[in-house]
Amino acid sequence: MVSLRFLLCFLFVSNVYATIVSHDGRAITIDGHRRVLLSGSIHYPRSTPEMWPDLIKKSKEGGLDAIETYVFWNAHEPTRRQYDFSGKLDLIRFLKTIQDEGLYGVLRIGPYACAEWNYGGFPVWLHNMPGMVFRTTNKAFMDEMQNFTTMIVDMVKKENLFASQGGPIILAQIENEYGNVMGPYGESGKAYIKWCANMAQSLDVGVPWIMCQQNDAPQPMLNTCNGFYCDNFVPNNPNTPKMWTENWTGWFKQWGGKNPHRTTEDVAFSVARFFQRGGTFNNYYMYHGGTNFDRTAGGPYITTSYDYDAPLDEYGNLNQPKYGHLKQLHDVLHSMERTLTYGNISTIEFGNSASATIYKTEEGSSCFFGNGNEKSDATISFQGESYVVPAWSVTILPDCKNEAYNTAKITTQTSMMVKKPNEAEDTPSTLKWSWRPENMDNFLLKGKGESTQTQLFDQKVVTNDQSDYLWYMTTVKFKKRDPFSGKNMSLRVNSTAHVLHAFVNGKHIGSQHAENGKFNYVFEKDVKFKSGRNVIALLSITVGLANYGAFFESKPAGITGPIFITGRNGDETIVKDLSAHKWSYKTGLIGFESQLFRTESMSKWSVESVPFNRTMTWYKTTFKSPLGNDPVVVDLMGLGKGTAWVNGNNIGRYWPAFISSENGCDAKCNYRGAYHAEKCLTNCGEPTQRWYHVPRSFLNAEGDNTLVLFEEMGGNPSLVSFQTTRVGSVCANVYEKNIIELSCDRKQISAIKFASFGNPDGDCGSFVKGTCESSNNTVDILTQECVGKEKCSIDVSKEKFGAPDCSGAARRLAVEAIC
Ligand code: GAL
Repeated sequence: MVSLRFLLCFLFVSNVYATIVSHDGRAITIDGHRRVLLSGSIHYPRSTPEMWPDLIKKSKEGGLDAIETYVFWNAHEPTRRQYDFSGKLDLIRFLKTIQDEGLYGVLRIGPYACAEWNYGGFPVWLHNMPGMVFRTTNKAFMDEMQNFTTMIVDMVKKENLFASQGGPIILAQIENEYGNVMGPYGESGKAYIKWCANMAQSLDVGVPWIMCQQNDAPQPMLNTCNGFYCDNFVPNNPNTPKMWTENWTGWFKQWGGKNPHRTTEDVAFSVARFFQRGGTFNNYYMYHGGTNFDRTAGGPYITTSYDYDAPLDEYGNLNQPKYGHLKQLHDVLHSMERTLTYGNISTIEFGNSASATIYKTEEGSSCFFGNGNEKSDATISFQGESYVVPAWSVTILPDCKNEAYNTAKITTQTSMMVKKPNEAEDTPSTLKWSWRPENMDNFLLKGKGESTQTQLFDQKVVTNDQSDYLWYMTTVKFKKRDPFSGKNMSLRVNSTAHVLHAFVNGKHIGSQHAENGKFNYVFEKDVKFKSGRNVIALLSITVGLANYGAFFESKPAGITGPIFITGRNGDETIVKDLSAHKWSYKTGLIGFESQLFRTESMSKWSVESVPFNRTMTWYKTTFKSPLGNDPVVVDLMGLGKGTAWVNGNNIGRYWPAFISSENGCDAKCNYRGAYHAEKCLTNCGEPTQRWYHVPRSFLNAEGDNTLVLFEEMGGNPSLVSFQTTRVGSVCANVYEKNIIELSCDRKQISAIKFASFGNPDGDCGSFVKGTCESSNNTVDILTQECVGKEKCSIDVSKEKFGAPDCSGAARRLAVEAIC
């Protein structure tokens, strides 16, 4: 009797907080109610646990209901059955931070992630298992996938983190966009996706599973859409709601590439259009992109910054106006939750891509007026009123009468970020460096590694991806009378090394990397071989392993050959194939093995004759942490390529010597028309990435900090400096009858640099007066209202600013305030 009472009591307690997450054809339901859900991706290892609370709080303030993340298998299981959930990898802590903020979680276990993450999140040891093929009905693969997925589910269950247990997680994902690459896997691909669905279901998580971009997702898997626009998406089952798992807020960056930007107007347009057409779940990919620390960048050639032009920038600052304009959209959509999820939907087409959608319930109606035309504004007549809907925009009227929001009319400030020098006390204007060479004697002169094979191997096979670096070495002997000896020959290497440095008899003969999106190239250099023994040492370097495509796991990396020595002996072309020579391999570099990057490393460093432009060189310096709380970056201008550590923390690969091409940056970026990754680029002719994030938690606020650089290609460290990044000025450019808030993000507004009410022209930083302007002193009015305050709210009205005659055109206030 007692035990039965105990049991009943236990059942009651354990289920009392359970949330029932389900769905119907219209929406995800939570405890029986259909919901409008706005979610954003934040990948926990791309920031630090110290940053998570702030990022998640800002997400909530930005109007999100949920945070989405992948789970990164190769980070958690770097060696088979050895797990790491520490620090940035503390998935449970991340999920609990989401829970503490009162948000929902979306857990994309995959365990394939893609995500521009190294090898798409797969461990390289998995690839090196016998008979392995990824993402198909391969027993070894399925066993490992099931093992990892089950382990993650069990960990999360143990902490009661699924909504069914009272936790925040409302959705889980298995696989990722398999439908996009499925063709080449044939029948096995179809069987695999069924197996994925069954396996996921068997884990009994108590919340729905999603499969993105999977038109044949078996029931009850929810198939969802990813892309820049998903308004045309139709789920594969009438009982599946229209869900958008990846609304790309910008794009990622590759070494050699430019800075991608997706305009605020266009992101807002895509979301509003999706909800106009019956969507009820939208997740921004990324809401905070963050940083690819250490060797986590995928690729090849994905940069260390994964900023993504997301609403929260790489460092966690608000990316305005994107953050604020979307926040307003979220507020409007949430206010219409009931009509959007329960209302009857009717649409009126006006032609020329203009349409009105009415959601009607007994309590009232909500409307969307959409204009998909890229060029012309539309005038929509509705219930006796007439509404102008600008080209490529959507107007939302929660009561079908009053315009509450238009995607193209931004009333949020634009923030211009600046970098400030390190003002910590005792900070010299230039840092004082010590250095040491990378010890390469055994390789360059002896050609001696750890193992020998008469074959050229893919780099992954040899290194298990424990390092970016792999030496391929061989010796070639020429007798005095050999036709090769003493002649001008050339060494020709067919290479898929992401970067290759070649040495002959200790001398660096050249370096090369793939360009223009091609991953293989031929390295060819003239070489004079001596008679006797010659050592050829090729250092192959990976810059992130491929993360996308059918069978991407077998895309080659490293030097797979063939390798030839060629030359001429009189009329005769002579060729020596070295591919099946005896090759000696050595994974990693000595300096990494002896952990020169650790603050407590005892190795000797020299302060004498610090060299510039020397390849394979270690540099070290100390610095004081910048004061305050603003995010810290290190400017690595002047350096070539390598890796940087702050107090032993790997802040990622750097490559400021890789300059993006001069062409392709539009002078003016037009938000109208479909976005693609080549539109609205900036940073032409500049280093692809010059500044590198140093999270505050990596720094000692008091005392010294250490920066260590391993420079591979040769560079000049004397320009290196620590800086902080913060809002430099804020701008607004808004029409009359709006209220605009200017905010310097907890700093004071110090001056009004520009202000004009009329028809001013230009953009933030380059505003100019137009042809009509109020005679009131706009600068004075704003100075009085804003200067000396952290924020000020301005009512843009003729009462305040006067009524200049702009030939009937609507009047605007443009203002730039200095922070
Ligand atoms: C998607 C993928 C994401 C990410 C994105 C581009 O195809 O699912 O993981 O790679 O593309 O950023």
